[in-house]
Amino acid sequence: MRILLVGLGGMGACHYKNYQHIEGAQVAAAVGRTEQDRAAAEVWGVPIYGTIAEACAHADVDLVDICAPTFLHKQLVLEAVAQGKHVITEKPIALSLADAKEMYAAAEEKGVQLYVAQVLQFTREVGVLRDVVRSRRYGKPLDACFERLTACPKWTQGGWLFDKSKSGLLPFDLHIHDLDVIVSMFGKPDDVIFTECAGEGKAYSEQYRFLYVWHSGFNVCAEAAWFNAAIPFTARWRVYFEHGMLVCDHNGVTGYSADGEVTQYDIAEEVTVDCGINLGRSGWFLRELSHLLECAQKNEPSPYVPKQQILDVLEIIEKI
Ligand SMILES: NC(=O)c1ccc[n+]([C@@H]2O[C@H](COP(=O)([O-])OP(=O)(O)OC[C@H]3O[C@@H](n4cnc5c(N)ncnc54)[C@H](O)[C@@H]3O)[C@@H](O)[C@H]2O)c1
Repeated sequence: MRILLVGLGGMGACHYKNYQHIEGAQVAAAVGRTEQDRAAAEVWGVPIYGTIAEACAHADVDLVDICAPTFLHKQLVLEAVAQGKHVITEKPIALSLADAKEMYAAAEEKGVQLYVAQVLQFTREVGVLRDVVRSRRYGKPLDACFERLTACPKWTQGGWLFDKSKSGLLPFDLHIHDLDVIVSMFGKPDDVIFTECAGEGKAYSEQYRFLYVWHSGFNVCAEAAWFNAAIPFTARWRVYFEHGMLVCDHNGVTGYSADGEVTQYDIAEEVTVDCGINLGRSGWFLRELSHLLECAQKNEPSPYVPKQQILDVLEIIEKI
């Protein structure tokens, strides 16, 4: 698969590094705007263009991978689709449900696939959760908690992350990772309430706490934060079932059954890649991009990021 990489910042570099480990994947061209982008393309030996149309006119590409700031996703996806290319776009797909629907409709009309890179769906940790929920290994889920906490990110170019109209701030940018998992595992919640906080003079909320409620009696609490504190990246969750609990934290994924059996699930990665950003070495993006390229090769949607799930999540987040 010949890939056109759009955006060469934090995630563009992460995707580029991961493509180097995927057999048959080649970053054939890039689209970027800044000196920093041009410098990265030069180091990688990849031709760089100003627009998708220009890149497609000069380079033979099968798929466009969009790693540009969120507010540009819609426009760039539509440009890629207009060129008849399959598209991977970084999360969130867009900043409104209406935009996301328009993007899928355009892809469907052209007969190309649109994939949203909700990376957690491809991780071994979430794979274990999916198996445990679907197999009812510990019975029915009753309650869950998800946390995604980080020191305020500093790598983005041009300050777009802290402008609500450009990133959607914490709910769209960070919490969407967990909400996508929550919706994919437990369905669309019936209601959400939330609290938020910010230090004096901050133009955005630094921390949110969410409570998702289902009429069935199932509840999920979640927290997302860009703390003004240099904490290590912290992502963990636990799901309480009728006969046990599954915990994902710095010890990996551990199951505790009611009868005392402790199961340490295997989540070791065969290959890890230094992702840059604030994650360090990980196999997550390699799994994600390998899977999505396979789906694109077959011109099939991905079972891990189906359209309805992506739209349901956006509908919820839009209300926050
Ligand atoms: N999956 C994840 O874990 C994860 C992590 C971080 C960011 N993201 C997502 O990745 C996307 C990019 O975030 P980032 O942190 O890499 O941002 P960044 O600011 O580091 O990089 C953005 C890049 O896009 C380029 N760009 C800007 N305008 C452009 C245009 N019109 N055409 C082409 N390129 C353009 C910039 O020059 C830069 O190279 C965002 O949507 C963000 O939500 C995902």
